Amino acid sequence: MNPKIKDVLAEPTDKLFEESLRPQKLDEFLGQEKIKDRLYILVQAAKIKNEPLPHLLFSGPPGLGKTTLAHILSKEMNASLKITSGPALDKAANLAGILTSLESFDILFIDEIHRLSRPVEEYLYPAMEDYRMDILIDQGPNARSIRLNLPKFTLVGATTRVGLLTEPLRSRFGLINRLEYYKLENLIRIVERSARILEIDVNEQAAREVAKRSRGTPRTVNHLLRWIRDYAYAKGYQRVSLDVVNKALAMIEIDEDGLDEMDKKILETIVYKFEGGPVGLQSLSVAIGEDPATLEEVHEPYLILEGYLKRTPQGRVVTARAYEKLKVSLPPSQEELF
Ligand SMILES: Nc1ncnc2c1ncn2[C@@H]1O[C@H](COP(=O)(O)OP(=O)(O)OP(=O)(O)O)[C@@H](O)[C@H]1O
Ligand SMILES: [Mg+2]
Repeated sequence: MNPKIKDVLAEPTDKLFEESLRPQKLDEFLGQEKIKDRLYILVQAAKIKNEPLPHLLFSGPPGLGKTTLAHILSKEMNASLKITSGPALDKAANLAGILTSLESFDILFIDEIHRLSRPVEEYLYPAMEDYRMDILIDQGPNARSIRLNLPKFTLVGATTRVGLLTEPLRSRFGLINRLEYYKLENLIRIVERSARILEIDVNEQAAREVAKRSRGTPRTVNHLLRWIRDYAYAKGYQRVSLDVVNKALAMIEIDEDGLDEMDKKILETIVYKFEGGPVGLQSLSVAIGEDPATLEEVHEPYLILEGYLKRTPQGRVVTARAYEKLKVSLPPSQEELF
């Protein structure tokens, strides 16, 4: 049986594994130079002024470092980090509980902030602006509101779907940072750093190959490296060469461009079941058996970036590059489109 990448990802040690590889300082966070430069400025200014950092939003596809940056900022500010998420904050009372437990300069990290409910979000506005929260207690004639004065905290929000944020929330962030997929050179540095921590002896060619197949994503670098390490152990290789990388990744069906089975399934489904598209997200998700949000947030962005797929007002359409990848010839009706 082929071990599938999903099984590899689902290991219970995942959290510990991610923690061990997570950069602790801005200097260790490789790539995303523009964002880092801004954060250096903000951290320095906050320290000089003895004020908390402004509220910050990080957006971008999964695995690019949003949570990592929140951890790093709390360390840089010598403050604590409290972590929660949009769906977990389902009641204003939860939010009040967390906010009142903070100390000045602490960072409240709200993951998936686009999934906050509207009422909770509205409580957040005065908390962000004036460090206060007015909560209503009791109902009917006994209803009264109490004002909570909050410590000067920093809200760090993360989202894979910045487009779903409401304008009032978005406008309350001091800075919105969009993380981009990583360039090859930075991915190679991330491979080398993680390999050092995991004590894997990876040569230059092998490191470049892992980087090339990591879909621009540090989390994928780390997952592939872990698989390659286990593969090398099990097969008795002392060092990881290009050949070892090729063999290990062939076994989990990651191809030379980093596309995995799901990517290929998406392209194949559009080509064979929907004649190349356009096909709506809902129909595609039913045909593939994957949740539409996961398709849209996790799988599609890289296929679009690499030019295999296009989103059009009529739906998803595969490109000539997808036909090339699947080694099928373009249908005659589509040839003039490309
Ligand atoms: N710039 C970087 N340099 C080195 N390693 C990185 C970098 N960014 C991320 N990583 C590694 O990738 C892993 C995933 O990053 P992280 O959890 O911060 O992603 P995320 O953007 O929060 O993803 P999600 O949207 O799924 O929550 C981290 O554990 C870390 O080891
Ligand atoms: Mg995260």
